[in-house]
Amino acid sequence: MASTRLVVAASARFVLAPSLLSADFADLAGAIRAVEDGGAEALHLDVMDGHFVPNITFGPALVKAVRARTRLPLDVHLMLTDPLQYIPDFARAGGDTLTFHIESSSAPPRVLERIRAEGKHPGIALRPKTPLSAVEPFLPAVEEVLVMTVEPGFSGQLFHPEVVPKIAQARKGLDRLGSAATLAVDGGVTAETIGPAAQAGATFFVCGNSVFSPDHSPQEGLARLREGFRKAMDGAVR
Ligand code: DX5
Ligand code: ZN
Repeated sequence: MASTRLVVAASARFVLAPSLLSADFADLAGAIRAVEDGGAEALHLDVMDGHFVPNITFGPALVKAVRARTRLPLDVHLMLTDPLQYIPDFARAGGDTLTFHIESSSAPPRVLERIRAEGKHPGIALRPKTPLSAVEPFLPAVEEVLVMTVEPGFSGQLFHPEVVPKIAQARKGLDRLGSAATLAVDGGVTAETIGPAAQAGATFFVCGNSVFSPDHSPQEGLARLREGFRKAMDGAVR
């Protein structure tokens, strides 16, 4: 009974959020059209500063250009050493959820306050090795917990299965608080790995290479992910 309720609740909030990092940057408009057509519920934008992570991607100008092309919610993942400094820029650019890393050097309460002041949804992210206890004090104040299932920095890496118990721990922590915050997973999410993540309680799935791939269309990629989720959750009921 309890597991059936869990499945219903999780399915109701199920979100696939393609990460544009894996798309063709020369044709982002086409990528956005394709994932909208495939039924994506959000877009994930990976902002990297070459300092917090060893890669540089894009800034507010690109977020603004994407905003102009879609009405999907923009889930902006800030992999920045000093997110506090840039919150107003990404808010003005049209991000909806602004997620910063607990391992960054900005003071979390100040970042959360700034995101709220900009009228945006605050999210908090943690690297695979960071324990949940690091973000626990901030759970009541966030609307998204982004559990990284790869080391942030690059798309196309393999899912770290050892992070799954932390997803379950985050689910328990949010449920205990009666929080409706989104529990997101990011990194190496495929039609296979989406199962364990979903069974652990994640409802929001960032997907890069499993959507944008030379092997299939983004629409097919999304359909496979949805099928993987459905199978895993059907399994959870039995
Ligand atoms: C990694 C990024 C991820 C990445 C996901 O630092 O945060 O969002 O783009 O790509 P895949 O799904 O290919 O691991
Ligand atoms: Zn990301």
